[in-house]
Amino acid sequence: MLKGRDMLSIHDLSVDEVQGILALAHELKAKQKAGIEHHLLKGKTLGMIFEKSSTRTRVSFEVGMYQLGGQALFLSNRDLQLGRGEPIKDTARVLSRYLDGIMIRTYGHDRVEELAKYADIPVINALTDLLHPCQVLTDLLTIQEHKGKNLKGLKMAYVGDGNNMTNSYMYGCAKAGMTFVAATPADYKPDATVTKQAKEDAKLTGASIELVTDPVEAVKGADIVVTDTWASMGQEDEHDARKKIFAPYQVNKELMAHADKRAIVMHCLPAYRGEEITEDVLEANAHVIFDEAENRLHTQKAIMALTMG
Ligand code: CP
Ligand code: NVA
Repeated sequence: MLKGRDMLSIHDLSVDEVQGILALAHELKAKQKAGIEHHLLKGKTLGMIFEKSSTRTRVSFEVGMYQLGGQALFLSNRDLQLGRGEPIKDTARVLSRYLDGIMIRTYGHDRVEELAKYADIPVINALTDLLHPCQVLTDLLTIQEHKGKNLKGLKMAYVGDGNNMTNSYMYGCAKAGMTFVAATPADYKPDATVTKQAKEDAKLTGASIELVTDPVEAVKGADIVVTDTWASMGQEDEHDARKKIFAPYQVNKELMAHADKRAIVMHCLPAYRGEEITEDVLEANAHVIFDEAENRLHTQKAIMALTMG
């Protein structure tokens, strides 16, 4: 079903395809833990284009390809001719002649779309300014591990900047049948088009997508509370101004008192303690947050196996 397809946005996946990715990710995780070989991409090569920094994404994709019996090439835009102005459409056609799949992390989402348009191998979005689908699929897997396989009806509250994570959470929760509420300052709401599409997707699964400005209202009774950095990659210059604007949106003990008693806190990392999350809340949820980091490996292996296999 996903063979040969790109993975640019969760919006492009059907509900069944999302379930299929999660099911294979659970299976591959179990196999890896049991030491059972799973060379689903034997002899295949993934190119990994990075125009932004990364710890988790780089290492998990590279290790994931190795565990699947293939190999990965780290392609920094500091080294590629792409970084000196070679057009994306030429890069896409050249790399398609050597590789079996391309993973890209970049700024504008249009760059990923253009790469996918001209490449004739699967392209995987490893973060753009608009979306971070691999992370949110990973988060759904992690929620299944901590809250049970049936995601329907669980409430997720996102608190902070309406960014690429928020946008992808809206798509992901819509496909999973969850209740999603984001609390952001009025001027930092998630993307309007994504919000509209996610609300439409939500109708198919009984999910709900709501945007508010009050963190307490969002968090009330939540099963999962999530946050992310207040200044994403590319917004470093705005960091000081954003720290002031987002101060009321910190995930701390006082805010967590409004969530369900068994609520878990998630963070895609890297985390900025004392800004979007306090040290005590992060450390109290470290068992979830580092599972979430680990699960990038298993979820992306599933994505690669399904699209590139
Ligand atoms: N969460 C995430 O994508 O981490 P990296 O930026 O380290 O890849
Ligand atoms: N919103 C963050 C996510 C980092 C994984 C960023 O884009 O920098």
